[in-house]
Amino acid sequence: MAHPQQLLPNLTFLDLRPPVTDAAREVAASLSAPSPSLDPKYFYDQRGSALFDAITRTPEYYPTRTEAALLTEHADAMAAQLPGELVIAEPGAGGCDKARLLLDRWRPSGYMPLEISRECLLGATRALAPRHPSVHFTAVCADYSQALSFPADDQGRPRLVFFPGSTIGNFEPVARADFLAGLRRLAGDDGFLLIGADLQKDPGRLNAAYNDAEGHTAAFNRNALHHLNRRLDCGFEPDAFEHLAFYNETAQRIEMHLECLRDQTVSVAGRRIALPTGTRIHTESSYKFTVEGFSRELVEAGFAPLSSWVDDEELFSIHLARAA
Ligand code: AVJ
Repeated sequence: MAHPQQLLPNLTFLDLRPPVTDAAREVAASLSAPSPSLDPKYFYDQRGSALFDAITRTPEYYPTRTEAALLTEHADAMAAQLPGELVIAEPGAGGCDKARLLLDRWRPSGYMPLEISRECLLGATRALAPRHPSVHFTAVCADYSQALSFPADDQGRPRLVFFPGSTIGNFEPVARADFLAGLRRLAGDDGFLLIGADLQKDPGRLNAAYNDAEGHTAAFNRNALHHLNRRLDCGFEPDAFEHLAFYNETAQRIEMHLECLRDQTVSVAGRRIALPTGTRIHTESSYKFTVEGFSRELVEAGFAPLSSWVDDEELFSIHLARAA
């Protein structure tokens, strides 16, 4: 185990040195597959994170603000079902914005964000820890796979795994079951899970949320190409791609694609990959759930659902479960 560093009286930093992935090889393989795709993680460089923030402020994109309102409104009801001493563990915490709502209201014993971006993690926790002196912060730099096998707290405090944002919707069904089982491992046998899941609804509303009028979602989608150009010098022409986002009712997911409007050839990992006009690169799936269906998935992953909360318009759900 890495050597913990004490950065502030209530902030410990643990660097698990997440292995560097070979992005070039990964991208070359997924782009030259029979159905070309890119992992949604490539949206998120600095500009991509700023564009995602802009998306969350558009009138059409309801998930972020609806989830925040649910967390705020029901924080007391959630706390009433949890032990007094608790450590919140948040895989992929980013800038720790969502946990902020809970730190203020719950005053947990500890908060443990696990995040692959060292810069994000240190920036956020260095700013947040002094404002919550009674909470012990353990900032863990780790990838998802390291995060999910992070050993349970030896001080005997139960862990609440927090996975907001409906990020769970990005996983394909089989990978999702594996990931939920991983969250169960991270929670431990006396642990809990608090997780956000976006709901199935009128496709018109869903399509609008991923095609905002200001074009932030389109820019976010194309940013995957700008990002790869900057990072790997691929030679994409991002302006020669059309943003497509639509609800696939059969698969119960929003699909985002980039459709090539001009023949082009990109170069990745020493390979030349032809992208003829009309080629669609699948950049993201965002699965939508029902409360009942998602609860069943939690049970299959080894959790016992305790409560779920849904807003009046039935747009978004938050689920609280304990380890079964
Ligand atoms: C961050 C994965 C929850 O699927 O709604 C927003 C990402 N993509 N607009 C989502 C996203 C396009 C978002 N998640």
